[in-house]
Amino acid sequence: MSFINEDISKRQKQSHEKYDKLIGKTGYIAPDEHLWEDILSAIVLRKPVLLKGPTGAGKTKLAESISALFKQPMQSINCSVDLDAEALLGFKTLVQRDGQSVIEFVEGPVVTAMKKGHFLYIDEINMAKAETLPILHSALDHRRMMTNPFTGEVIEAHPDFGVISAINEGYIGTAPMNEALKNRFIAYPIPYLTGQQLAELWNREFPDAEKELKTFMLNLAEDLMKQVENGLLSEEAASIRSLLDATALAQYMDPIRAVQYAIAEKLDDESERDLFMDLANTWKK
Ligand SMILES: Nc1ncnc2c1ncn2[C@@H]1O[C@H](COP(=O)(O)OP(=O)(O)OP(=O)(O)O)[C@@H](O)[C@H]1O
Ligand SMILES: [Mg+2]
Repeated sequence: MSFINEDISKRQKQSHEKYDKLIGKTGYIAPDEHLWEDILSAIVLRKPVLLKGPTGAGKTKLAESISALFKQPMQSINCSVDLDAEALLGFKTLVQRDGQSVIEFVEGPVVTAMKKGHFLYIDEINMAKAETLPILHSALDHRRMMTNPFTGEVIEAHPDFGVISAINEGYIGTAPMNEALKNRFIAYPIPYLTGQQLAELWNREFPDAEKELKTFMLNLAEDLMKQVENGLLSEEAASIRSLLDATALAQYMDPIRAVQYAIAEKLDDESERDLFMDLANTWKK
């Protein structure tokens, strides 16, 4: 779409000198023909994007791929209950200059991203304490600015500043996201890949693996997703990350042991582990 392409080529021309290492690598494969462009539309419109999906579904990979496409660095924040305003905005420190001690402010990821026009990736956004993130509200809405409480500086966001967040709903340790915070985002469901796209990912990641092994893993993956849909297995049993790990291991050991270590042993429930191993053994025959 031309309005996306125009913005991409404009941004690609910018130089980010010392931040080059923060530009992500490409490689996300979209589950359908629309998702990728629909997300890019929000990015180009400067709307904060929220990626909702289970663990190992490619949310971080997607954010990195956006950074790669625009050739625009990405500052990252991992949310936890310990996340505080200093971790977001930066902190004051004493430095020696010309034999004198002076207080300097070391800019954190949010301030850097806003000033330099980087992407800000906020991972596990629902892991943060409810009182921590409202400081970002003015940066996330039409105002695109904030006052740094540590310095009093009013920061206006660079035109290319963009926010991508990821959320793993319903996981232990996560709280529902604050409504006013959530309201500032355009939200996209990020599912596990299936079918042709899943096969494409496997062919790309394991070009030299035996066909039989790939077929086993892809069949198992599809079956796992069905069992997840039926409520018989928890969602992470079908995690693409774990399935990729299992395939990597299986090139050096029996695939049944590989899936046991990469997937089954991480399931909390014994009956789920048994069901999983039964499925794996069925497909291996
Ligand atoms: N659609 C996809 N396209 C490309 N790679 C994918 C896709 N889905 C999963 N992967 C691969 O699976 C692994 C896990 O992906 P990623 O780390 O992005 O998941 P995530 O959704 O961020 O998980 P978490 O919620 O645990 O952080 C990576 O190696 C990634 O490349
Ligand atoms: Mg991630």
